[in-house]
Amino acid sequence: MTAKVIDGKAFAANVRAQVAAHVAKLKEEHGIQPGLAVVLVGEDPASQVYVRNKHASTIEVGMASFEHRLPVDTAEADLLALVKSLNADPKVHGILVQLPLPSHLNSELIINTIDPAKDVDGFHISNVGLLGTGQKSMVPCTPLGCLMMLRDHHGSLAGLNAVVVGRSNIVGKPMAQLLLGDSCTVTIAHSRTKDLAAVCRGADILVAAVGRPEMLTGDYVKPGATVIDVGINRIERDGKAKLVGDVHYASAAAVAGAITPVPGGVGPMTIACLLANALTACCRANGLPEPEGLTA
Ligand code: GUN
Repeated sequence: MTAKVIDGKAFAANVRAQVAAHVAKLKEEHGIQPGLAVVLVGEDPASQVYVRNKHASTIEVGMASFEHRLPVDTAEADLLALVKSLNADPKVHGILVQLPLPSHLNSELIINTIDPAKDVDGFHISNVGLLGTGQKSMVPCTPLGCLMMLRDHHGSLAGLNAVVVGRSNIVGKPMAQLLLGDSCTVTIAHSRTKDLAAVCRGADILVAAVGRPEMLTGDYVKPGATVIDVGINRIERDGKAKLVGDVHYASAAAVAGAITPVPGGVGPMTIACLLANALTACCRANGLPEPEGLTA
């Protein structure tokens, strides 16, 4: 079998177009412009690239983008004061504090100071609890993007066996909660799981989020399964820099029914879902119906 390639780039472009259409309608019918604030502390090169891309994508869909760049030695009290002022600002519907933060800052305290209704990352402890109890919440962007692609491919996910490899707070745990919410039978596997390959071979849906380049080969894949590769690993091969996932693409694609490539799979969905979350937050803040198909 040769797997169907799930084109995340095209899917994300479609999500961004849907967001842009909703934003235009909000302006036209209600005079409201959704606003997204991004806070970057320090000059980490990878974070600077992310923040630049977020800013450009936000503008492109017609939202207001508020960028706050603070020096690396920013005092915690000053960052907390900025978050509180964004919480109080009616033009700001979504707030994202770029991680990782410099080590002198308490990330948990800062994230948990964001108004949960504006927490477009879904990292606030209230949103984690709401998701875990099946209540309306803000959902972390990468797992939300994976869920959208899975729903599109399968229609209903009910009764499917899903294995999530990786137990991070940002991807693995919320991904498992979302799949459970869609009535999958969910297993969370990790580095200490016994006979990981056998566990993975039981999966109709296999989500790889371990951060280890090409770890899951075709031997881990049930014939016909859907493989979602969340990994983004920079490696050097034949003297050249290369981006690979947590899945060994060639061997897995020979067995799977559908698979996301790296690059061009899950990656582009993260920013698209951030914009979708900012739109959802704006609709909720104004008592308007939420955009269909763009939430969990
Ligand atoms: N750093 C890398 N990815 C992310 C993300 O999705 N959200 C935040 N806040 N920081 C990040």
